[in-house]
Amino acid sequence: MDLELGGKVAVIGGGSRGIGSYIAHALGAEGCRVVLTARDAGQVKEAVSVLNAKGIEAAGVSVDVTDADSGERISQFARDSFGGFDIYVGNAGGNRRKSFADTTDQDWLDLLNLNLLSHLRVARSAVSEMRSGGGGAIVFISSVFGREAGGPGLSLYNTSKSAMISAAKIMAIELAGEGIRVNCVAPGSIRFPGGSWDRRCIEQPDAMAKFVEANIPLGRFGTAEEVANVVAFLSSPRASLVTGTCINVDGGQSRSLI
Ligand SMILES: NC(=O)c1ccc[n+]([C@@H]2O[C@H](COP(=O)([O-])OP(=O)(O)OC[C@H]3O[C@@H](n4cnc5c(N)ncnc54)[C@H](OP(=O)(O)O)[C@@H]3O)[C@@H](O)[C@H]2O)c1
Repeated sequence: MDLELGGKVAVIGGGSRGIGSYIAHALGAEGCRVVLTARDAGQVKEAVSVLNAKGIEAAGVSVDVTDADSGERISQFARDSFGGFDIYVGNAGGNRRKSFADTTDQDWLDLLNLNLLSHLRVARSAVSEMRSGGGGAIVFISSVFGREAGGPGLSLYNTSKSAMISAAKIMAIELAGEGIRVNCVAPGSIRFPGGSWDRRCIEQPDAMAKFVEANIPLGRFGTAEEVANVVAFLSSPRASLVTGTCINVDGGQSRSLI
């Protein structure tokens, strides 16, 4: 299937490594021009040159998405590089494990800023860009733990990832009439070289084998390519009827019915 993404411009917030870099490669392989953002300028530069070496047009900018002006800076960079953008993928994110009783206001402000507000801020900027371009697609990377309880120590992460799905739903309703679709992807446990699951598999292979057997019906970790493929589809005109939804990419890991 041709995803009809040729010539589109995609901005990936948190695209220098991990799942975000695989999303950049998947969208680039489908013909998108790609804008990468992350904090580490050296990694951004390196990621752009890897894309360029594959013949993918790409540009990158070092921006901390938790900064109040990140949305405007990213949009301006995309305008300067490629004249605007059609797709925004909000991928940057992180976890802070703590029992709820030990969390502080600062923990909540930090995690909600990184996992939620940062993407809403860039998306707001993206919406005005997409309006002038006649439409677009926004995809937020949530988690299966945005859809069901992750367990002890995960109140910060769970809350931020659920709120992202909730915001996307309302955005989808409000923006549908303007041709802007908004969706989420909820990855399960995704293993890629250098990622946290990869480190745990190397350090505790037996415990991780048991974890997979108990938790992932398909019997293996997901790959970042598998997440990126779903993001590419949702970003594309082929997903023209899909908005306001969240798709699990988790090998059956999530136990939630919704
Ligand atoms: N890996 C999994 O199994 C899994 C499962 C479910 C959901 N997810 C979600 O998928 C997303 C990607 O996860 P990952 O494992 O690929 O993470 P990762 O390897 O840590 O990569 C995160 C990316 O985001 C960037 N980033 C982090 N903080 C940023 C900030 N403040 N401003 C700008 N960029 C920032 C990082 O670059 P810099 O550090 O240079 O800024 C990097 O490019 C996250 O939202 C995560 O919650 C992952």
